[in-house]
Amino acid sequence: SRPVRIAPSILSADFARLGEEVRAIDAAGADWIHVDVMDGHFVPNLTIGPMVVKALRQHSAKPFDVHLMIAPADPLLQPFAEAGADIISVHPEAGPHLHRSLQAIKALGKRAGVVLNPATPAESVDHVLDLVDLIMVMSVNPGFGGQKFLHSQLAKIAALRQRIDASGREIDLEVDGGIDRTTAPLAVEAGANVLVAGTATFAGGPAAYADNIRALRGA
Ligand code: DX5
Ligand code: ZN
Repeated sequence: SRPVRIAPSILSADFARLGEEVRAIDAAGADWIHVDVMDGHFVPNLTIGPMVVKALRQHSAKPFDVHLMIAPADPLLQPFAEAGADIISVHPEAGPHLHRSLQAIKALGKRAGVVLNPATPAESVDHVLDLVDLIMVMSVNPGFGGQKFLHSQLAKIAALRQRIDASGREIDLEVDGGIDRTTAPLAVEAGANVLVAGTATFAGGPAAYADNIRALRGA
């Protein structure tokens, strides 16, 4: 079976100590650093921009998995790429030209991802499968950490796993929202190979990060 990667979301970190928090999850075994970018418009919350990504870059060499919950996304693709993002993911609803946005991310030399909201169907990726490096399924409505996992998304994860395998391409299947020790195995059984975890990573403070990440990976 495929290795499971854990991508802690720094949305649940202590924002007053973000650099230290990124170092701590890196040392605790995080595979990727998941960065939730929100604009107060596409989603009802406002978080961080390219300047913060750039400042955090010196605290970890692990891949920065930048999840853009902003509309429009296109004007900020280059700033995030230059700030040090390795993977840049956009929602199809963030603009009229998903294919062009993905092309732009690839042209910047970065891995390109598509993120599907709970009500967005699996078919949304059918005509961009030749371009994407990652598909992310939201198992909560985007905007906040600490929400309950939507079990309705498991069938979509399975449907996307089939599409990915049929494509013959190496595409990561990531699940974001409400991942804990109980829901992690469900997402993996459905076909996910990357798990985002905010609340479940940061619970208990720095001393618990390594155990938390190990528990999710082993779950
Ligand atoms: C929600 C974000 C998620 C979120 C996950 O909009 O995309 O990455 O922070 O948080 P938990 O793991 O707490 O559900
Ligand atoms: Zn996210």
